[in-house]
Amino acid sequence: MSNDTIKSISPIVLPPLPYVDNALDPVISAKTIGFHYGKHHKGYVDNLNKLIADTEFAEMTLEKIITETAGKADKTAIFNNAAQAWNHAFYWRSLKPKGGGQPSAVLKTKIEASFGSVDACMKEWSAAAMGQFGSGWAWLVLDGGKLKVVKTGNAETPLTMGMTPLLTIDVWEHAYYLDYQNRRADYVEAVLDKLINWGFAADNLG
Ligand SMILES: [Fe+2]
Repeated sequence: MSNDTIKSISPIVLPPLPYVDNALDPVISAKTIGFHYGKHHKGYVDNLNKLIADTEFAEMTLEKIITETAGKADKTAIFNNAAQAWNHAFYWRSLKPKGGGQPSAVLKTKIEASFGSVDACMKEWSAAAMGQFGSGWAWLVLDGGKLKVVKTGNAETPLTMGMTPLLTIDVWEHAYYLDYQNRRADYVEAVLDKLINWGFAADNLG
């Protein structure tokens, strides 16, 4: 599945979850999905559609709205809701039931070339997820032919940094608080170990 699947023109739609709401249990409970997808993600999409109605942004793709509003102080609300709508759609696809394990051979070779080993990549990714102060995201990206780990605050996204996102982990508290309370490390470790969707990353490599 490529990034193209989450492109859409106004009204921006809430893409369906790629699995049933209890499919990630027990790492991420149906209760968390209910709030995270059904309230938070849906809220960003609904807010965005209200904000862009009858504006120049109404006919743009979600990606275009994000790049057109990034860094513009008078467009912060549109950027935040658009980027969060995109980031969440990408996050749901970054996970899958019975995920984790080892990446495919092609992706593994690229990871080894960039990080030394899959284990070193996972350690750096986990450290980025833990090191993001407050709300944000920890990403595996393709940047100039190399794989990198980057973290972004709040709604910020590598899409505006000339990077190709491959996978992401949401580290906003709403992603884990019901299941893990303040134990972000336990959530990150469990997601990387049991849910991360290496096939999605390989697809995004192009
Ligand atoms: Fe979230």
